[in-house]
Amino acid sequence: MTAPRPLATPSVVDLPAPAGARVHRARLRELDPATLYGILRLRETVFCLEQGATDADLDGRELEEGTTLMWVSVPDPAVPDGARIAVAHARVLTDPEAMRIGRVVVAASRRRDGLGRVVMQAALEHCRAVAPEREVRIDAQAYLERWYASMGFVAHGDLFLEAGIEHVAMVRPADA
Ligand SMILES: CC(C)(COP(=O)(O)OP(=O)(O)OC[C@H]1O[C@@H](n2cnc3c(N)ncnc32)[C@H](O)[C@@H]1OP(=O)(O)O)[C@@H](O)C(=O)NCCC(=O)NCCS
Repeated sequence: MTAPRPLATPSVVDLPAPAGARVHRARLRELDPATLYGILRLRETVFCLEQGATDADLDGRELEEGTTLMWVSVPDPAVPDGARIAVAHARVLTDPEAMRIGRVVVAASRRRDGLGRVVMQAALEHCRAVAPEREVRIDAQAYLERWYASMGFVAHGDLFLEAGIEHVAMVRPADA
């Protein structure tokens, strides 16, 4: 299997997004502390506080060289100096045989406006660019199976509990 190709990061990804929104990607070591804090706070707010996930969010995989974070930023309404805040996020991992997307999240106040799809498209484009011949895997929260299916993912196997939440494994073939 061909090794993933490195891409220049950090960078702004050129994808259509709602007004004022910008899509970014970077590896952990390229993130400034305030941006990283914002991303982790978003994940904590949604997965831990809102959804009550029973496993820790930080599993060490951000530290891997093959991991890239994608996020959508908008101007922070609480700060008048042009600072931006992360409102959507996804994490792309390089596994031995496949790419893997996870930690897909949109701030509760910004949902149903297409940002989830935008950040998933950015993650999928990243996968295509670094490893076009590899399939993409996700462990999808079960209630979103149809949403992920609309992006080319196919469910495999039975539902299972991860972090106390029902999930289903889904795969997107490389040629989807
Ligand atoms: C799932 C999530 C990322 C979607 O983000 P979003 O910005 O609202 O998504 P989009 O606007 O791009 O797409 C909306 C579509 O997502 C699906 N969707 C979103 N919330 C849903 C829900 N509660 N039940 C079923 N489908 C849902 C629907 O297909 C919806 O389309 P519709 O508005 O026409 O019904 C967001 O709801 C979220 O962060 N949820 C909590 C965390 C989570 O579950 N993460 C997924 C981990 S696998």
